Amino acid sequence: MDKSNPSRVNPLPSRLGLRLVVPMLLFAGGLGAASWTLSQSLLLEQTISEGRTVADMVENIGRWASQYGGVHARTVGSSAKMPGNFLTRSVYAMSSGDGQVLSGSRVGDATAERNALDRMEAYHWKNPALVQREVADVVAAAGSKARYRLTARTVLNRNNTPDAFEREALDAVQTAADQGGGRAAQEYWRVSGGRLLYARSVVAQASCLRCHGSAESAPEFIRTNAQFNGGGGYGYVEGKPSGLISVALPLPHASSAFAKLPPAVWAAVAAAGIGALWLLGLALHRPAAPTPASDARR
Ligand code: HEC
Repeated sequence: MDKSNPSRVNPLPSRLGLRLVVPMLLFAGGLGAASWTLSQSLLLEQTISEGRTVADMVENIGRWASQYGGVHARTVGSSAKMPGNFLTRSVYAMSSGDGQVLSGSRVGDATAERNALDRMEAYHWKNPALVQREVADVVAAAGSKARYRLTARTVLNRNNTPDAFEREALDAVQTAADQGGGRAAQEYWRVSGGRLLYARSVVAQASCLRCHGSAESAPEFIRTNAQFNGGGGYGYVEGKPSGLISVALPLPHASSAFAKLPPAVWAAVAAAGIGALWLLGLALHRPAAPTPASDARR
């Protein structure tokens, strides 16, 4: 009987199936790989852009402080807490009477002297680089995800000593600047340990040379302050890259980005998947074309 005749079992669907499944897998796999690499590269681009934003902020902090030739932190009274690092300190008596007591030109009693000391004002000068560094310390202490620091090949403040990435970046921007590169010559970045390390070149201006020109010509408040005797920080040349703003940012992984996708994206992927399976189903259940063998039996 026809029904039990094995030759009626058409081998076409399975062969057709294989021929469909392979391109379907290629299609889905290719699309998956493309969206994975695309999201990875978008995440990198976005993180580089965040690095640039942080570097812009750092430059602007410096610019703000430069408008005033640095800033002064005021303290009152001789027992006031030191306001961090500073370059110079100017002390003022609150009144001419206090001044006379403190300078010893007027002999007052112990109480008058103590009172004068308690009213005494001190102004601690912080130059722009110091302001930028103190903000960097605050940012790091606050546990912010983006960290930054200022560094150079050799440094005034030992805490600013460059790390391996920063030395690499200093070489890279130096080489690029020597070759007359444009914006690309100003920056350098690398991905390391799930973080983006971004560096922007700091170009010396004539005004920087007052402190960064040479150890001999540096102001006394730099030379005599142990805090700023990191063994270097000199030899800046106007118009040449001399330091770096170095930014470190966590680089999100594509898997974490996928985990945060809105449900609408997954709904769209599901719709595409259903469509693809549907197409496969339609192709597999196509009515079998008559084979020459079955034709012969009719
Ligand atoms: C009045 C002196 C003075 C001037 C002018 C000055 N700096 Fe500095 N600079 C310092 C001091 C002090 C530090 C150390 C700050 C700290 O403790 O982190 C420093 C630190 C730096 C650092 C970090 C590396 C290091 O040496 O510790 C860079 C980079 C830097 N300055 C660049 C510049 C540039 C660029 C200019 C000009 C636009 C400039 N500085 C002008 C005093 C100066």
